[in-house]
Parts: sequence; structure tokens; C-alpha cells
Amino acid sequence: MESIRHVGILVRDLEDAVERWSRLTGWRFKEISRYEPDSYVCDAAPTPHPHSQRIAMSIDGTPQIELLELNPDEPTHGEAELGLHHIAFLHVDDVDETMRGFDERGIAHDGVAYDADGAALLFFLAGDAVDGVRVEYARKGSHPVYVERDSPTYRRENGLDQP
Ligand SMILES: [Fe+2]
Repeated sequence: MESIRHVGILVRDLEDAVERWSRLTGWRFKEISRYEPDSYVCDAAPTPHPHSQRIAMSIDGTPQIELLELNPDEPTHGEAELGLHHIAFLHVDDVDETMRGFDERGIAHDGVAYDADGAALLFFLAGDAVDGVRVEYARKGSHPVYVERDSPTYRRENGLDQP
């Protein structure tokens, strides 16, 4: 039986949230990064489009905490979605097949990230079947996560903000 791997929280200011959640939990967080799949679709923006989501994942914790920054360009990560954003089950072998299985059972999804070959990297269940709680399923293996080297956190931790 798969466990919840992380809990996603959508925040207004990512640097501030990392500070607050670090203090609150005593946990360490990875460097601020961007999740940048080849394309993304959601119900409110169904045309495949670029997606660049700022995130900071905790190193500690079971489940981990994934802090995501408010993304006004992306309806699934917009103002109305602030706060508890999703719970995540990871390491799915075939995300497209998993998504189809839910579709066949009438369980809706909203928000799918795709790789360059058009294969789904992750999706979020949404709607009444999950009581409005997004549930993320993501594929096993690597994901397009890039450390944001110009972020204040990265620059501070690597001594780049010294005069
Ligand atoms: Fe997530």
C-alpha cells in the first residue's frame, strides 16, 4: 500500500514560507527549484502551455512538505488555491494508464504535466470524488526540477550574495 509522500502547500511568498516552515518544524528544505515540464494542461487552460512552478521540498519529514509559490499564470496554482494544495502519491509506473483507470471510474482530474514525448509526468485528481482535495500521482524516476540558481536562498547558501 502506497503512503502519502508529501503534502503540497501553496504560499504567497516562497522564501518567507521556507523560513516559517523551517522554524515551525525544525526540518531542512532543499534549494528553491522550478518544476518545468514540457507542457501542462488544466480545465481552465486546456491548451498545452509552458509551466514553471517555483517549489521548495522539505528534506525531512514523513510525509515531506512541498511548498509551492502562488502562480497567477496557472489556474490550478492561483490565488483561490492558496493553503493546503494537494497530497501526493508518487512512484507510479505508468501515469497515463493510472489516469485512464480513474477516468473509467468517473474520478476527474484537473492539471496534467507532460514530458517532451507527450507522456504524463503527473496529474491531480480533483472534484467531488476526492472532496475537493487534489491528489497527485507522479511517475517513478526523474522529473524536470531545476535548482533556481538566482534565488536568494541559493545565492546565500553558496556565498554568492557577498560583496
Ligand atoms: Fe506535489
